[in-house]
Amino acid sequence: MADSKKIKKIAVLTSGGDAPGMNAAIRAVVRKAIVDGISVTGIQKGYQGLLSEEFVEMGPRSVSDSVQKGGTILRTARSEEFKTDEGKKKAAGICRKNKFDAVVVIGGDGSYRGAQALSVEGIPVMCLPGTIDLDIACTDYTIGFDTAVNTALQAIDKVRDTSSSHERCSIIEVMGRNAGYIALWCGVASGAEDILIPENYNFDEQEIINHIIESRKSGKTHHLIINAEGIGHSTSMARRIEAATGMETRATILGYMQRGGSPTCKDRYYASMMGAMAADLLAKGTVNRVISYKNGEFVDFDIDEALAMKKEISTYQYEIAKALSK
Ligand code: F6P
Repeated sequence: MADSKKIKKIAVLTSGGDAPGMNAAIRAVVRKAIVDGISVTGIQKGYQGLLSEEFVEMGPRSVSDSVQKGGTILRTARSEEFKTDEGKKKAAGICRKNKFDAVVVIGGDGSYRGAQALSVEGIPVMCLPGTIDLDIACTDYTIGFDTAVNTALQAIDKVRDTSSSHERCSIIEVMGRNAGYIALWCGVASGAEDILIPENYNFDEQEIINHIIESRKSGKTHHLIINAEGIGHSTSMARRIEAATGMETRATILGYMQRGGSPTCKDRYYASMMGAMAADLLAKGTVNRVISYKNGEFVDFDIDEALAMKKEISTYQYEIAKALSK
C-alpha cells in the first residue's frame, strides 16, 4: 500500500544471514536518502538490535570505505524475540518512539516476513533482497548470490583438480537450506556429475551409485557431486557411496566461507541501484514495497503481493545440467 506521508527520518537494518553486497546497499540507501533530505539511523544487529535499541546515526561518511567490503557494517542477527507477537509490538513501539517514518530491511525471505509484520503494526517498511540463496520469489536476483557462487566455484574447481588426480568421487556441500540455486549454478559451472537440490531430491542413493559406476565405465576420472545444505549428510553419504562403488569418496563442506568476501561487481552494482531506488521511493512517500529485479529491470512490488508469490527452480535447467554431465 502506498502512503503519501512526508518521510523525514528512516532507519535501516540488515537481518538474517549476511550477504556480500549488503554494505553497498546500506551505502546507497544512506547516501541517496540524505541527498533527498531524509535523515538515516542505522539499526545494528537486525530486529534484535531494534528491540534493544542499538542505533547509530548515519551520514555520508559512516558508509565510506564499505562498498567493497563483505559482511554487513550494521551487523546482523536472527531474533527469536522479534518472532513473538509481543516482540513485534514492542519493535513497532520503539519505531514510533524514535520517530522512524519507515524502516528499510535488507535481508531474505524471513526478514521480509518480519518487515511485513512491522507494516501490519503500522510501521511503514521498504525491503531489499539480500541473501546468497536467490530464493525470494518476487525477484530474479538477490544481493550476494553472485559473490557466493563465485566463491564456492573457486573452491569446487580446486577440489575437482585433486579429485581427478586421485580418481576419487567428491561430494561438495554448498549452502542453501531450503533452496538449490547455489548448488544448481555451481554444479553446472563446475561440470559436476550430480547435483542434489532440496527442491527435488528423491533420496534414492542407488541412482547416484549407478551413475558413478556408469561414469567410470565411460572413462571419467572423477565424480563430482554438488550437494545442497538442505540435503546435507555429505560425510555419511560419502561413506555409503565408497562402500557401494569401491571408488574412494571424500566429502567437503564449504560452509560459511560462501557468505564472506568482497562482493563482485554485479553484487555491488545491483545493491547500489536497489538501495538508491528504495530511498527514492521513500522520498516520494511510497512505502510497504519490496525492490526487485525482474525481466531486466529494477521494479518494486507491494510487500503482501511479493510475499504471496511462489518461485520454483527451473526443471528445464535442472534437466540440462543432467544432460551436460554425461
Ligand atoms: O540464508 C543464507 C544462508 O546462508 C543459507 O544458505 C543457510 O542455510 C543459512 O543462511 C545458514 O544460517 P545460519 O547463519 O543461521 O547458520
